[in-house]
Amino acid sequence: MQITLTRPDDWHLHLRDGLALQHTVPFTAKQFGRAIVMPNLAPPVTTTEQALAYRQRIMAAIPADTAFQPLMTLYLTNNTTTDEIRHARKSGLVHGVKLYPAGATTNSDAGVTDICHCHAALETMQECGMPLLVHGEVVDAGIDVFDREKYFIERTLIPTAHKFPDLKIVFEHITTKEAADFVLACGENVAATITPQHLLYNRNALFKGGIRPHYYCLPVLKREGHRKALVAAVMSGNKKFFLGTDSAPHAQHKKESACGCAGIFSAPLAIELYTRIFEENNALDKLEAFTSFHGADFYGLPRNSEKITLVKKSWTVPKDFPLGDDRIIPLHAGEEESWMIIK
Ligand code: NCD
Ligand code: ZN
Repeated sequence: MQITLTRPDDWHLHLRDGLALQHTVPFTAKQFGRAIVMPNLAPPVTTTEQALAYRQRIMAAIPADTAFQPLMTLYLTNNTTTDEIRHARKSGLVHGVKLYPAGATTNSDAGVTDICHCHAALETMQECGMPLLVHGEVVDAGIDVFDREKYFIERTLIPTAHKFPDLKIVFEHITTKEAADFVLACGENVAATITPQHLLYNRNALFKGGIRPHYYCLPVLKREGHRKALVAAVMSGNKKFFLGTDSAPHAQHKKESACGCAGIFSAPLAIELYTRIFEENNALDKLEAFTSFHGADFYGLPRNSEKITLVKKSWTVPKDFPLGDDRIIPLHAGEEESWMIIK
């Protein structure tokens, strides 16, 4: 069995920087036409100038036989100016501004402490059509980790969407029924990305036979009912939901540690995984729109014209890969996958 798709795009991706780019960029470039590249480097990408310099470093790591394009983002801070937003929009190369609540995830310390500091920036983004990309979790230590997304919707997203009714918002890597319901209740300017892991697993995967650091990402996996709600949202074919892997590479020793980093590295098997998920849900007819149309349409970019072809054929995911001077363990390391890209 074969399936041909318009070349997909990844609307949420971490590539890191420096030596790591040699080992992260090629996996994504092989599968995807474009990717929204997250700005949570250390230090973060807060200006257009930094984003364009980062883009050049990524371009230098793209294999010659692909036409992959990185779509850059800015990291929103309490101090992001309206001029910076306008400058970013004018560059034509920055496609979103990312809100990390300070302390919510990897390299988020420079993030936003209270959204009220960003009202002028958001107003300008609304005006010039610059999407706000949201890591939707509260950081309040008194809130249960598994409820962080739900509280963020109530405390921040609903008021923000109300105050800026035309602001384009991508609720990134949604993990709960509440998030899917929120997106559905909003207008066409609000959409969401969904990762393979949140469609495949519930939180039991974190504890299967012992603690499983390679299943740990943020927002963390949730209960089965939430996974089912995400699957239903995606398989409905609704254009508000699109592919975003959140592939987030961390060296093996940083994951397998007394205080392991959050992030799942899925780039080497991303489109294969999504294909299997749609097949398992008898929805292969909805796959291409999710992987290749909805995101481009939301961002106002042309759909890709190239195609990729997958064949149903078993292969074994490698046990690890190089990452700069370190090693990295991909999702499903050493396990069989059922779909393979052939061209
Ligand atoms: C991401 C990372 O490592 O940069 N980690 C993750 O668990 N998803 C950051 C993020 O998207 O939250
Ligand atoms: Zn991410």
